[in-house]
Amino acid sequence: MTAKFIVIEGLEGAGKSTAISICQQFLTQHNVDFVNVREPGGTPLAEQLRDLVKANHQEQIASETELLIMYAARAQLVNNVIRPALNNGQWVLGDRHDLSSQAYQGGGREIEQTTLKALSDIVLKGLKPDLTIYLDIEPSIGLARAKGRGELDRIEQEALSFFERTRAQYLNLANNDDSIKTVNANQTMAQVHNDIITVLEQFMQSNN
Ligand code: TMP
Repeated sequence: MTAKFIVIEGLEGAGKSTAISICQQFLTQHNVDFVNVREPGGTPLAEQLRDLVKANHQEQIASETELLIMYAARAQLVNNVIRPALNNGQWVLGDRHDLSSQAYQGGGREIEQTTLKALSDIVLKGLKPDLTIYLDIEPSIGLARAKGRGELDRIEQEALSFFERTRAQYLNLANNDDSIKTVNANQTMAQVHNDIITVLEQFMQSNN
């Protein structure tokens, strides 16, 4: 099997970290050599961009600035980590990727699809995850969980309506792309765990 690119997506508090642990365990059990990445971030420069975009600033951050920082960080990660790993036969397990920009900047910030498409064409040059697991959570539940973890960053402080638009966009995109599997993250941990394993097993079988 050629190296695959698997991504976990979802709103804050959807349970991405747990889902990533489940995937890591699954891949290890299947003797898959993989690297972990996160977005924005995953290279020294991209991690600086992550801190920058998540921090609270005195001045207003324009939606376009936020968008460009996300894609600048993605360009670093794709060129310096993701492509080299895949070319080297290593799988890549991503904590967020381009779908986050489609959902947060496209849905939440209401940036036009044509703008997003232009940027993703420049940065990704056709790179697309083989499998995306989207953890779908009710925004109010996810945000309450995120609040329980400590202080909220700049994006987490957005109004509930921002996350509702982001979720609607995630669902819309997931419904129109077979490589995106939606898992209902409002269920119990055990149910979410089972659903993720089912998706991973189906993915392995379909690529065998
Ligand atoms: P998190 O992955 O730790 O939740 O933090 C990343 C934050 O950045 C989260 O609020 C989602 C947001 N984000 C975007 O708005 N667009 C993007 O393209 C990415 C990768 C993340």
